[in-house]
Amino acid sequence: MKKLVVMSHPLIDHKMAKIRDKNTHPKEFRESVSEIGALLTYEVTRDLETEATTVETPLGLADCKVLSKPVVLVPILRAGLGMVDGIHNLIPTAKIGHVGLYRDEETLEPHIYYAKFPVGIKDSLVIILDPMLATGGTVSKTVDILKERGVKKIKYVGIVGCPEGVSRLQKDHPDVPIYLAALDSHLNDIGYIYPGLGDCGDRLFGTK
Ligand code: URA
Repeated sequence: MKKLVVMSHPLIDHKMAKIRDKNTHPKEFRESVSEIGALLTYEVTRDLETEATTVETPLGLADCKVLSKPVVLVPILRAGLGMVDGIHNLIPTAKIGHVGLYRDEETLEPHIYYAKFPVGIKDSLVIILDPMLATGGTVSKTVDILKERGVKKIKYVGIVGCPEGVSRLQKDHPDVPIYLAALDSHLNDIGYIYPGLGDCGDRLFGTK
């Protein structure tokens, strides 16, 4: 059951224009990445489980629903960090795990150098965050790690993807739905999404 959602919404489109613009400064870039993450969350969480509860309003009793399943956000270091705040503001009960991967210079395959997850992650909905779905190798490896730890429900949320990254992730993990704000033309020879937005980590953290 492959699922790819490229969410189109005027607010997302407007903020996409901001982050694609090479003249946008890191402060505005960071804010927009975080806000796009929040706007995507509306669609990503549409099927979250809820349970019935009763709440006393100033006038009487109201039938309400509250979230019933824990959520864990897993940003992939380092660009994934840029998406955390916007989503965490909307799901303040979510716990946060972190994954760091490096690419082997020869095989180009990703390897883990850091992984720290909250207790109970196995029974949570885990949302992986990484703004750029380039080769798909990093996100796919992160899904491997989570599945090895017994996680059953995983979603991936990014900002810009390309057909190569989508195909790889869907081939390796067809059960993981993909949510993006834009699907670009292709991956270029040096592993950047075209036209994309450049190096997302560098633009978030001002490292170039
Ligand atoms: N990572 C980035 O930051 N940008 C790309 O275009 C691809 C991978």
